Amino acid sequence: MSSLSNKRIILGVTGGIAAYKSAEVVRRLQDQGAEVRVVMTPAAGEFIRPLTMQALSGNPVHIELLDSEAEAGMGHIELARWADLLLIAPASADFIANMVHGRADSLLSAIHLATPAMVVIAPAMNQAMWAHPASLANIATLQERGVCIIGPDAGIQACGDVGPGRMQRPDDIVERAISLFENGLLAGKKVVITAGPTREALDPVRYISNHSSGKMGYALAQAATEAGAKVTLISGPVSLAPPERCQLTAVTSADEMLSASLEAATDADVFIAAAAVADYRASTVAEQKIKKQGEQMTINLEKNPDIVATVSAANPNLFVLGFAAETQDIESYARDKLASKNLNAIIANDVSRGDVGFNADDNEVSWIDADSSKVFSKRSKAQLARDILEHMVNHLKL
Ligand code: PMT
Repeated sequence: MSSLSNKRIILGVTGGIAAYKSAEVVRRLQDQGAEVRVVMTPAAGEFIRPLTMQALSGNPVHIELLDSEAEAGMGHIELARWADLLLIAPASADFIANMVHGRADSLLSAIHLATPAMVVIAPAMNQAMWAHPASLANIATLQERGVCIIGPDAGIQACGDVGPGRMQRPDDIVERAISLFENGLLAGKKVVITAGPTREALDPVRYISNHSSGKMGYALAQAATEAGAKVTLISGPVSLAPPERCQLTAVTSADEMLSASLEAATDADVFIAAAAVADYRASTVAEQKIKKQGEQMTINLEKNPDIVATVSAANPNLFVLGFAAETQDIESYARDKLASKNLNAIIANDVSRGDVGFNADDNEVSWIDADSSKVFSKRSKAQLARDILEHMVNHLKL
């Protein structure tokens, strides 16, 4: 199977003399089995004809953000969700600045903001523009957000200058794209991930639960699958479609999640507990709907089993990564859980904020283990999941 088989790649083309080379990038991506859709900025059309790119890619070329015909076909949000990879080659200095500032004044910049896919850029600009502190600061910001930068190459430029700033060669760009999918970080490994909330019944009608949407756990399942792992996703009730190519085990209560976790963990290499497990359940689940009893009602609760601690104790060779949902003294409470649950590492996140944590599309976390800690600044949960797995593998030589 070719390296990019079944991969969906948006090739973004911005204005610059290197745009003519993007035709070669399309061809080589397709040679590797990828399905390519081209999105051009209006300026790019001055350097290469959209018709050329349409003929090469076999798909309509998208240019305008408010193109009613294109929107009817596949609007910018659909395109953003369709892609496994957003590859912008060439990426002009101006477009890079737009990315840094979250502009959405072109179809391509709107897709960049909306997509959960990996983002890769191949900068192309005059050597003096590349060397400008503003350009270098923009590149550094994008790298911090997890954007992969390819090149630029150094040498004689179309303007006659000599130095760094030329777009990387098409075959180098495609090789880098392949490596992102075949990063193989977890190739051959079995990864078990718990995600979402649990629901603890009070009676046939009511239950106790929490605000977990499952997004963090599902992003980890997606990233682990992309990294070549065999993934078992054990999920509480959520409204997310499970990532393709991973095995989903749907559960409701903590008890069910425990049973599924113990079974899946027996032959696993990694166990990631991203689920928000209810700490307590009703001591007795009423067989009939509990009738209203005056102004107040008392319900007796008892502790649920600690799933991740039980899994860790039962599988001494398993690498166990937990999460800590805290609202204060975050690092201190997380370190307590690292020890008390016998984890290899723990991801601490602040769930008192509205822009990260429960149900948010983004998260901002700290990786904490016995010897170190690392902050992952705010980014999409899709990108954060890839970054956490990369850190886990590189840091611990899995
Ligand atoms: O799902 P999202 O909407 O994307 O939100 C993501 C998240 C906030 C749920 C996620 O990032 C997160 O923090 N998950 C852990 C939530 C939680 O239960 O944290 P905790 O500090 O209460 O539990 C600590 C660890 O023990 C967790 O790994 C948890 O899965 C595990 N645990 C807790 C209780 C229990 N009975 N069994 C467990 O295994």
